[in-house]
Amino acid sequence: MYRNQNIRLNLLDVLFWGGLIFWSIYVRVRLPLNASMSQLFLFVLALIVLTPPWVAPLFAFFPRWSKKIWYKELFNRSQDGLSTAVAALVWTFFQKNPLYLGPWILSAGVGITLAALAFFLVNTSLVTLVIHLSSGTPWKEIWRKNFKWLSISYFLLSPMALLLARAYETPLIGNWGGWTVLLFLVPLYYSRYYWDEKVRLEQAFDTTLEVLMNALEAKEKQTRMHSERVADIARDLAKAFYNDEAKAQEIYRAARLHDIGKIAIPEAVLLKPGKLTEAEFDLIKSHTKLGAELLSPARKVAFDQLVYNVILYHHERWDGRGYPEGLAGQDIPEEARIVGLADAYEAMTAGRPYREAKSPEEALKEVQDFSGVQFDPKLVRLFTVLWNQNPIWRDREAYLAAKGGSVSPSTLPQPSSESSLPSSSEPGSRTSES
Ligand SMILES: [Fe+2]
Repeated sequence: MYRNQNIRLNLLDVLFWGGLIFWSIYVRVRLPLNASMSQLFLFVLALIVLTPPWVAPLFAFFPRWSKKIWYKELFNRSQDGLSTAVAALVWTFFQKNPLYLGPWILSAGVGITLAALAFFLVNTSLVTLVIHLSSGTPWKEIWRKNFKWLSISYFLLSPMALLLARAYETPLIGNWGGWTVLLFLVPLYYSRYYWDEKVRLEQAFDTTLEVLMNALEAKEKQTRMHSERVADIARDLAKAFYNDEAKAQEIYRAARLHDIGKIAIPEAVLLKPGKLTEAEFDLIKSHTKLGAELLSPARKVAFDQLVYNVILYHHERWDGRGYPEGLAGQDIPEEARIVGLADAYEAMTAGRPYREAKSPEEALKEVQDFSGVQFDPKLVRLFTVLWNQNPIWRDREAYLAAKGGSVSPSTLPQPSSESSLPSSSEPGSRTSES
């Protein structure tokens, strides 16, 4: 084809590559974090190698006119076409201006990598622009959420595009390169199943988590809103602490389950409106160990060590006066320190029947006062920075409104499970009580 200056595209070429591109658009590969990518990229990049620069953009522009809103579809098609066109120009440039490193010609390797980069940059910039214009979300946020790690997939796939193109030029079976391409596609298609399974597993994990939370909620109504807000705070804190989206997501999931052990606490104690006896309070405190025991059959299958650490140690204190083991400082697993701080802030702003809810400002001040006492000072500093950025979780009322107000706000009486705890204004007392 093009490489051999034989520009004629026969009907079989058009049907084969048109078919592959059409197929790739419908078979989207789901990726973790709710992302997905079509393999359109792979096939148009292969076409860029095989054909003159004007062919691949046309292939990318034409297919998939679905019943969606026409101008959205026009945008999608145009941006795929435009990205392909820029990538084609980059590839062509390197073929016309060959690069050498000693005896090696680098034009193909460098050309395909930079063409992939061009495709990716044009494509994601246009999508980012549209999301930014329509939702006002900051650029960086959109890119980080949607594309940051997708770029890795693009770079891993770009040599594959070159391979497919070369395969098409190298008939192994029946004197037609299409068979070779199809053979190459088998492992690629298999990888799609691998991703699908991975995403399905994560969904199964989330469903299990929901089932467990429903079970606890059946017993203690306030628990869902509490655990959702704790988890949102913990996720933001973890993101700032680790600068790692995937880790933050793991901590979010663990935080959703942090009080799961309360399932095993008798309702008479868990929902007791009056003062708790010491024995009853000890029973409440056992929810940390009970939670870890409850989930132990799922250890290493559905839940990893991080989840256990959060469940078991979220009531430990920096000064070693927490429970269940009285760990102090760095001995407390980081994830448990993060969730412990989030838990305390949520509990303070939620209030209890025996104690008024604190305003966000009062609660922040208390978190700061207990820095180095109950909380890791480094986390308190990060928490303060986040709090000043006014996240949705800062104000409980705003959070409730944003979540659809499905849970009764803090002004309504809440069943207390730990009413015998000292008020947090007392020196050295716990600020986190749930
Ligand atoms: Fe707890």
